[in-house]
Amino acid sequence: MRKKIVAGNWKMNKTYSEAVPLLYEVKDLLWKSKKGESVIKIIIPPSLYIHDFYETTKGLKNIFIGAQNCSYEESGAFTGEISASMIKSVGGSYVLIGHSERRSYFKETNEELKRKTDITLAHGLHPIFCVGESKDKRESGEHFKVVESQINESLFHLQPGNFKKVVIAYEPVWAIGTGLTATSTQAQEMHHHIRSLIEDKYGRILAEETSILYGGSCNEKNAAELFACPDVDGGLIGGASLKAKEFVEIIQAIPQ
Ligand code: 13P
Repeated sequence: MRKKIVAGNWKMNKTYSEAVPLLYEVKDLLWKSKKGESVIKIIIPPSLYIHDFYETTKGLKNIFIGAQNCSYEESGAFTGEISASMIKSVGGSYVLIGHSERRSYFKETNEELKRKTDITLAHGLHPIFCVGESKDKRESGEHFKVVESQINESLFHLQPGNFKKVVIAYEPVWAIGTGLTATSTQAQEMHHHIRSLIEDKYGRILAEETSILYGGSCNEKNAAELFACPDVDGGLIGGASLKAKEFVEIIQAIPQ
């Protein structure tokens, strides 16, 4: 059975003195209840905090720490960049690749994201590869095509053994931070489409094993309905992951 995952992308939020208590709050709430125990929980704070967060959570079942980005270069004179091997060396397990904010503000291309995927995998990290269409593309009916090319150009060169380590996150750009959540029908339809693309490329077994997360204004009120969709395997949460109680409620909305 494929893994159920809830990941919290903190983006560029929280100073260190705000971040540490929030992590402890999440940890305490999780500790208090058995509900959601089997869900893989990934906290993705600003990279500066990865090491501390790893030390604070290590040994706890099903909790992992991730990075929001990494360089496609191995090492060297790339001021300001963070490499996959550095992320690994401080305890990171997952890396977000191709978040729409990276694609739009930092102009990351499918080709660059392919290189980031490769380097992440080469260092034993799991990419959480983000895909999703803009409002315009949704309105012109090109949403399936957009997501298809993002996956095709950045992931489908992988050998099955590596593809297996990838988590996919469908985050429609128009739903991120807007309060406009995709309906469960829209989410299921796209997740099913993604799974069929994987099946065509790698076969049914791998397609059935790939976790596909939904992201975009997912909160404690709408999570249960989204997570009840057969092809939605969890969520990538932005704003609601910055509130411990809401984030834990989202984790607990995964069907047991
Ligand atoms: P929101 O949950 O704030 O819409 O953000 C989603 C997201 O971008 C997670 O990566």
